[in-house]
Amino acid sequence: MVMLIICQYTIAQQACPVIPLPDQYSKVEHEFVIGNHTALVVKDASLRPIAVYLQQELQRRYQIHVNILSKSRGPAIVLQRSKPGTNADAYTLTMNKEGVLVSARHNEGIFNGIITLLQLTTGSTVNNASLAVACWNITDAPRYHWRGLMLDESRFFYGKEKVKSILDWMAFYKLNRFHWHLTDAPGWRLEIKKYPLLTTVGGIGNFKNPNAPAAYYTQDDIKEIVAYAQERFITIIPEIDMPGHASAANRAYPAFNGGGTEKYPDFTFNPGREGTYQYLTDILKETDALFPSQLIHLGGDEVSSGNAAWDADSGIARLMQTHKLTSRKQVEDYFIQRMADTVLKMNNKVMAWDEIATATLPANKTIVCWWRMEKPETLEMSLQKGYSVILCPRLPFYLDFVQDSSHKIGRRWKNGEFNELKSVYTFSSEQLPATHGKDSLILGIQGCLWTETIPDGRRLDFMLYPRISALAEAAWTQPAKRDFDKFTARLKPQMKLFEQAGLYYFDFFSPRKHVETGDASDEKHYID
Ligand code: ACM
Repeated sequence: MVMLIICQYTIAQQACPVIPLPDQYSKVEHEFVIGNHTALVVKDASLRPIAVYLQQELQRRYQIHVNILSKSRGPAIVLQRSKPGTNADAYTLTMNKEGVLVSARHNEGIFNGIITLLQLTTGSTVNNASLAVACWNITDAPRYHWRGLMLDESRFFYGKEKVKSILDWMAFYKLNRFHWHLTDAPGWRLEIKKYPLLTTVGGIGNFKNPNAPAAYYTQDDIKEIVAYAQERFITIIPEIDMPGHASAANRAYPAFNGGGTEKYPDFTFNPGREGTYQYLTDILKETDALFPSQLIHLGGDEVSSGNAAWDADSGIARLMQTHKLTSRKQVEDYFIQRMADTVLKMNNKVMAWDEIATATLPANKTIVCWWRMEKPETLEMSLQKGYSVILCPRLPFYLDFVQDSSHKIGRRWKNGEFNELKSVYTFSSEQLPATHGKDSLILGIQGCLWTETIPDGRRLDFMLYPRISALAEAAWTQPAKRDFDKFTARLKPQMKLFEQAGLYYFDFFSPRKHVETGDASDEKHYID
C-alpha cells in the first residue's frame, strides 16, 4: 500500500511537458493513439470551429486527418461544454487509451484545452499514420486573463504573413491579447479611407530609411488578420498613438500638426485646433469598425519629449485660457480626456500608456499600460483611481532589450540591465508594492516588441523566441508553481519546433548557434 502511494505520487510529480505549465496535472500510464480514423466529436455546433482548428493543426503537423463527427462509438477526442464556471479560460483535459475529453464552460477554455493537447503531442512521432500521445489528466486555469504581446510595425513593417505566424505562436502559448502599434513617427500603417494620404504619404519610410516605399495594411488585410486572430481566440487591440508620435500623420495632413522639437520634428497633433478632434474622431470611427475588440489604445506616451512648440501656438494659448489650463501637461490631459470621450461614445473602453494616469477618466472603462518601472507612482496613481492596469515594465517586458550578456545590438537599461529569459520568466506582480490590495485591477502582463533595432523578420524571431514562452508562463502559471530550471527542461524539446518552423530563434541552450543580426548604431535614437 505504501509502495502504491509512493508510486502514484511519483507519477503525479512527473514533469508535464506543457508551456505554460498547467495548474494541476497528473500522468496516466496510457497512450492515446491519434490516426486517420480517430473521431473528433463535437456535441455542440458552436464548438465546430475549434474542432476544425484542431483538425487543421493535426493535418499540418502530422499529416493525420481526423474526422469531425457529432458522435462516435470508437476512440475519440471529444469537445464538450461543462457546467457553469466563472473563469473563461479554465478547462479540463482527461485522457486514457479510449479517448480524450476536453471540457470547459466557455469556448476560450475549450480552445486552451486543445492547445494543451497539441503541446502534449510534441516529441511524438508518426508511425504508420498514427501518433501515440502520452496521457495526462489536467485541470487548468490561468493566473491572468490578459496575456499580451505588443508589436510595433511603424518602425519596421513585417507584413501579413509574419503577423499571422506570431498569432500562431501566441495561440500555441495561450497568449490572448495582441496589441498592435500601427502608427508612430516613422510610418502610418493602417488604411483610413477618409484620409488616404495617411498611408500613401504617411506610410512611406521606416526607422532606417525615410524613403522606403509606402508599407501599410489595407482594410481588407486588417479584416483578414482580425478573423485569423479570432479563430485563435486572440483579441487585437489597435493603437493609434496621440497626441505625440504623430510625425508620419503630420507629413500626410500638416493642417493638424502641433509641432515638435529640433530632435523630434512635427511630433504632435495640434490640441489647439478644433479640426484636430474631428479628424482623429473620423480615424477612430474607421478603426473601431475594423476591430471588434471594443477597446482602442490611444497611446499618450512621451508627449513631453516633443511638445515644446505648443508654447508658441496661439490656438493652444486660447484653449488654455478657455479651459483654465496652466501647463502643457494639463493640455495633454485635456486632449486625452476628449479623445477618450470619443472612444467611449463608440462603446469602446480606452487604453493608453501610463502617462494618462494624471487624466480624469471613467475608472471602469480605462486600462493603463504601466511601462515606466522607474515611476512606481504612476502605477500607484492608476490603481488609486480604480483604473485597470496591464503590467509591461521595460524591465523585464520590453523585448527589444537584449537577452544575453554577450549581445551588442538592442537596448539595455541605465546600468546595463537587460531582459534575459529568466527575468521575463520570474516576474511577479507581488514584487511591486503599489499593487498590494489592488490585485483585482491588475488584468495581466504584456511583452512589448518595439522595433527600432529590428529591421527584419529574422531579427524579430531572435528577439521573440524563446522569450515568448517565458512570457506565457509568467502570465498563466501561479508564481508558487513556477521553477525556472524545470521550465527550461520543458522548453528544450520545443526548440525543435522553432527549428522546424524556420524561425531564427535565440538558442538559450547554445547561445552561439545563431549570430545576432542588426545594427548597434540604432540605439541612440530612442527617446527614452
Ligand atoms: C513607450 O515605450 N514609449 C510606451
